[in-house]
Amino acid sequence: MAHVRRRRLMARKDYGVTELGYLGIGVSDLAAWRHYATNVLGVDWIDEPGGARLRMDYWHYRIRVHEDPSDDILYAGFRVAGPEELQASINRLEELGIAFERATASEAEQRCVLDYVRVKDPAGLPIEIFHGPLVDTHQPYRPGRGMHGKFRTGALGLGHMIVRNIDVEASYRFYRDLMDLRGNVEMRFGVGERRFELTFMAAEGGRDHMVAFGAGNTPKRIHHLMIEVEEQNDVGLTYDIVRKEKIPILNDIGRHIDDNMFSFYMSTPSGWFCEYGAEGSSPTYQSEYHTVGDYWGHMFATDFVE
Ligand SMILES: [Fe+2]
Repeated sequence: MAHVRRRRLMARKDYGVTELGYLGIGVSDLAAWRHYATNVLGVDWIDEPGGARLRMDYWHYRIRVHEDPSDDILYAGFRVAGPEELQASINRLEELGIAFERATASEAEQRCVLDYVRVKDPAGLPIEIFHGPLVDTHQPYRPGRGMHGKFRTGALGLGHMIVRNIDVEASYRFYRDLMDLRGNVEMRFGVGERRFELTFMAAEGGRDHMVAFGAGNTPKRIHHLMIEVEEQNDVGLTYDIVRKEKIPILNDIGRHIDDNMFSFYMSTPSGWFCEYGAEGSSPTYQSEYHTVGDYWGHMFATDFVE
């Protein structure tokens, strides 16, 4: 690790979200996604009526695929610890005056969680705050193709995502006040004529960030989903597969300066991006910002074009 992160323990609020637990995605081309999920990402694809569930660990699913023309995220599940914490989230929603719906028992059963509430973030992303995922410990994870190691999930959750924002301040307040995530502007940089300030939000004990925004009103609700593997060789192996399959690469291999992630970004069959990485670090808890996003690499594919 290039530099040591200084941890400051803080008392987590009882409504505090611990991790990004699951995603539901709408995909127009199921066959393309089956190939991509299995042979490129290396996750386990299990057919279901109207879609599939993708396993990355002992959880019943981490990504639920629905045949749907949107080619976008349909819902994102953020986990709280248990029923009391979910009740604390509901109390918090009422205090903040944010509209929400409580799932029925059969809706929760469909999601394979014990209970959840639905709410939208300020840019309209459907969010589900849930507790109690179905965990199939009797059924070990089986990768879709050969892998050197496993996905890095566990208490860190599925991964992280950069989502659409319309009003940065409103997004910041939403994730801070409802989920007890902490964050700040960590990057200020330009891509061509456009200036960006990216804000990264983290939970105590979680990933460097579980959700980030600042990319603006992106074409899709999600800019990218990051999934992490335990072995750097799996990033390299996946990169080779992506190159062989001529899957468009948004950003080439590099290492991010904020979360130390050794990763690259590629297109998914739905047009949004997937960051495939390893060696992510913990949150800093003390703000810092960068004008260059990387130790090295992560060059845009267009940077190579003369
Ligand atoms: Fe990322």
